[in-house]
Amino acid sequence: MTNHDTHDTINTPDSPRHSQHETRNTSNTGQMTVQDIQEAYARYATWIDRLGWLNRLLTGRYRSRQFSQATGRVLDVACGAGTNFQYLPESTEIVGIDISEPLLERARSELETLERNGTVKQMDAQDLAFEDDSFDTVISSFSTCTFPDPIGALREMSRVCRPEGQILLLEHGRSDNDLIARYQEWRADAHYEKSGCRVTQEPLSVVCRAGLPVNEAETAQLGRITRIVCDPVPTTTN
Ligand SMILES: C[S@@+](CC[C@H](N)C(=O)[O-])C[C@H]1O[C@@H](n2cnc3c(N)ncnc32)[C@H](O)[C@@H]1O
Repeated sequence: MTNHDTHDTINTPDSPRHSQHETRNTSNTGQMTVQDIQEAYARYATWIDRLGWLNRLLTGRYRSRQFSQATGRVLDVACGAGTNFQYLPESTEIVGIDISEPLLERARSELETLERNGTVKQMDAQDLAFEDDSFDTVISSFSTCTFPDPIGALREMSRVCRPEGQILLLEHGRSDNDLIARYQEWRADAHYEKSGCRVTQEPLSVVCRAGLPVNEAETAQLGRITRIVCDPVPTTTN
């Protein structure tokens, strides 16, 4: 059975961290806002439909390895079209959030196709409308590179994760291979302007700056993909 909820707005009045982060296009710094990113991903939704198979081909085995260890009530932060859902064990309860409503529509269909129990909601990752310690596992893939405040978003993931839970991340970043890294650097600004994605972000460094204790980290595809398992920071020290 599936149960699908939606929120009409990004920030809800009952959000525990309501209005802590700027979510509208008020910046003149060149940094994309949540609204800019929302618009970019609305444009990408049909592209994602067409190339979903390629995404699964390139990243499926890393998603499977990382997310098959999830247990209990699972929050997928920035779930997009719900690509991770098929890799989560049947025993888990799925809650997905994203800012892009067109992608959330795909995520709802994915829950139905997989006949999985779950909900998906529109929400800002930097301002999660969940109580502390609400989830056994928090997962996120290829997302911190798009958050205007990735450290704030990681701290939110930590806050909503139970102290004995796990945070499972799959991210992309700057390659170890010099040639690829130079290409990434060359494309970085244009890619950011188009999709709000910081392609050369160093995921492990962001996780460390957020203060999350790292249990496991490994890279693949010449350093382009990083798999990170971390613990939440106890709520009192968040
Ligand atoms: C590269 S896609 C990854 C989607 C999915 N996790 C996957 O692995 O296929 C980045 C996702 O982050 C979402 N996103 C970006 N900023 C967000 C924010 N502040 N809050 C929630 N979702 C956000 C986008 O809408 C998009 O779905």
